[in-house]
Amino acid sequence: MRTLLVTGGAGFIGSAVCRNLLGEAGTRVVNLDKLTYAASGATMRAWEGRNNYRFVQGDIGDVALVGQILREEKVDAVMHLAAESHVDRSIDGPGAFVETNVVGTFRLLNAALGYWRELPEDKRAAFRFHHVSTDEVFGDLPFDSGVFTEETPYQPSSPYSATKAASDHLVRAWHETYGLPVVLSNCSNNYGPYHFPEKLIPLTILNALEGKPLPVYGRGENVRDWLYVDDHARALNLVVSRGRVGESYNVGGREERTNLAVVGPSTGSWPTGTGGSRSGAAPIRGIASGMPCSRRPEAGPYRQ
Ligand SMILES: NC(=O)c1ccc[n+]([C@@H]2O[C@H](COP(=O)([O-])OP(=O)(O)OC[C@H]3O[C@@H](n4cnc5c(N)ncnc54)[C@H](O)[C@@H]3O)[C@@H](O)[C@H]2O)c1
Repeated sequence: MRTLLVTGGAGFIGSAVCRNLLGEAGTRVVNLDKLTYAASGATMRAWEGRNNYRFVQGDIGDVALVGQILREEKVDAVMHLAAESHVDRSIDGPGAFVETNVVGTFRLLNAALGYWRELPEDKRAAFRFHHVSTDEVFGDLPFDSGVFTEETPYQPSSPYSATKAASDHLVRAWHETYGLPVVLSNCSNNYGPYHFPEKLIPLTILNALEGKPLPVYGRGENVRDWLYVDDHARALNLVVSRGRVGESYNVGGREERTNLAVVGPSTGSWPTGTGGSRSGAAPIRGIASGMPCSRRPEAGPYRQ
């Protein structure tokens, strides 16, 4: 039996990760989540009472609580997804993003390091700290200028992406400096069940159902790659199970669309847009997430 501590497991992607892990024999999941506005109790109801699942309401920055969970549960790997995740909110109130994404990750890393140092040698070698991040740390790409790769320099452009970039750097530093066995992954925009309705796809559907204006800003030409959340959860399981220590893995869906092309179906039309898949990209790879060269964070509720 392997035991994974998933942070943010009541959120959109974290719940898909728990779903995926709990479908495997021999896996125990401990879900640590603060239950912010972004969490959904509905995601977790199906697992209540299962003997290979435990939910703990708490903050990733609570070092004593995290240390207690790690020791009590003899955790084999941490999958760290808890974050403040909405770009528009980060523009209105960056403090919470610094607190959770940067300081919270720092404290979680320290709790994990303390625990990891106490482990016997074979357990230390097998332990993993998997940090889940975003392709937004790479900034924007001019249209048709290739894709992000794991070597693309970081150029975050919003408070959200800046705090995620900072947390990526901390995680790498805890590996380089203290030897903590980490793996990282950076993914593009996810869609699927339990997506919080402030994000583009669910907001579009709800607005369309209620006859409200659709959330497309400007000409709707921003291009994003879209990744189905359960596919992402499977990729994360692969990364935490088989990823090479110290490595980063970019995860994309190979499904680039303009925002107009994404919103189009709910208006009854399917604009062809300019953002079809680009050739030459690997299934797990870097993703273009922006349009011509503006470094301004793209405000508006369509932004992830
Ligand atoms: N949604 C996307 O398209 C996307 C794309 C790339 C990367 N990511 C990354 O994936 C991760 C998960 O994203 P998501 O969309 O599922 O986010 P989400 O906002 O839906 O869920 C975040 C979860 O974290 C919990 N949380 C927040 N602060 C916490 C704290 N201090 N302690 C404990 N729990 C806390 C919340 O209660 C919530 O359940 C994030 O790290 C995000 O940066 C998301």
